[in-house]
Amino acid sequence: MRLLVTGGCGFIGSNFIYHILDAYPDDVVVNLDKLTYAGNLANMQRAENEHGGKRYHFARGDIANFEFVSYLLKEQAIDAVVNFAAESHVDRSIADCSPFLQTNVLGTQNLLEASRRAGIGRFVQVSTDEVYGTLGPEGKFTEDTPLAPNSPYSASKAAADLFVRAYVETYGLPALITRCSNNYGPYQFPEKLIALMYLRASEDQTLPVYGDGKNVRDWIYVADHCRGVDLALRRGRTGAVYNFGGNAELPNIDVVRTILSILGKPESLIRFVADRPGHDRRYAMDYRLAQKELGFEPEYDFTRGIRETVAWYRANGDWLRGVQDGSYLEFMDKWYGGRL
Ligand code: NAD
Ligand code: TYD
Repeated sequence: MRLLVTGGCGFIGSNFIYHILDAYPDDVVVNLDKLTYAGNLANMQRAENEHGGKRYHFARGDIANFEFVSYLLKEQAIDAVVNFAAESHVDRSIADCSPFLQTNVLGTQNLLEASRRAGIGRFVQVSTDEVYGTLGPEGKFTEDTPLAPNSPYSASKAAADLFVRAYVETYGLPALITRCSNNYGPYQFPEKLIALMYLRASEDQTLPVYGDGKNVRDWIYVADHCRGVDLALRRGRTGAVYNFGGNAELPNIDVVRTILSILGKPESLIRFVADRPGHDRRYAMDYRLAQKELGFEPEYDFTRGIRETVAWYRANGDWLRGVQDGSYLEFMDKWYGGRL
């Protein structure tokens, strides 16, 4: 299969491309990435070294650029598109949501339109549990849970999902949607909870925990998510939505304490800071449809996943230092301000 993977220089996209290159010796991957602050060419160095110009091709560009996307789809004889490209951080969407509309909504619609005109055989939209809003103490999100996004980020992802649905219904585009819970693992940008807490704890800096620290996320190791997207790509039904979760519901404070304990750092580094506006209380995924139709099962429990994640960050200090450029420090300073 010849795949166009968008956002392949980001966290999940780069893990996904390695999964494909390692698991399918006949597949070819074209990685379309704009290289925003979250996109890092260094993530794909091994792919370039081992498969560059043969099974792996990089194209810098914007999913919202119709001419360029159309050219790539034709020139590279693409069979299927997997769309990871997005603005992905809730806090940044609260600070300024315009890039979220531009990429997540307009960019996705553009990719759908170019794929439709090129006659693409499979389109996978990588979405999130956050489109369902928030849960109380009981229950889980199913694929039938109504969309009720609470942040500008999740609103933009929900809008994109609705465009995918419209392209299936109106034009018969062979598209489907995957919705996943919170990922963690190698190459995650140190703005999301686990990567940020590792970075700060390892440097003996304070750890900003929003509100009472009891918001719950359902953590999935990134390799499990990538296998799920791959299963949906190869076995999924057109028009379907598939939830993926990690069976690891944890309050944020427990996650932070676990990282401190692995690193042997004191809990006195924790700072409870002003809550995120519109902060969803709890996410949990019912992924029985993906079990039944795709044979999906997460393989990592949280204990194993977090140990491997910390080990990866420890072994990749250069990567972690490399991504903390001026724009990163500027955002951190502006967002957390006096809260740290
Ligand atoms: P990320 O922020 O690490 O990476 C996003 C990538 O997209 C970057 O390489 C960036 O350069 C690229 N990009 C941004 N705008 C682009 C554009 N206009 N054109 C081309 N490339 C562009 O994100 P991530 O955490 O890897 O998330 C990937 C996808 O998975 C997103 O769609 C996100 O909504 C979804 N998702 C993420 C999580 C999570 O926990 N991180 C959970 C569920 C779903
Ligand atoms: P995050 O990694 O931003 O993912 P999302 O908001 O998409 O779930 O945040 C995960 C949880 O951690 C969320 O409940 C917010 C919380 N959080 C903090 O308490 N402090 C922080 O500095 C960050 C970034 C997140």
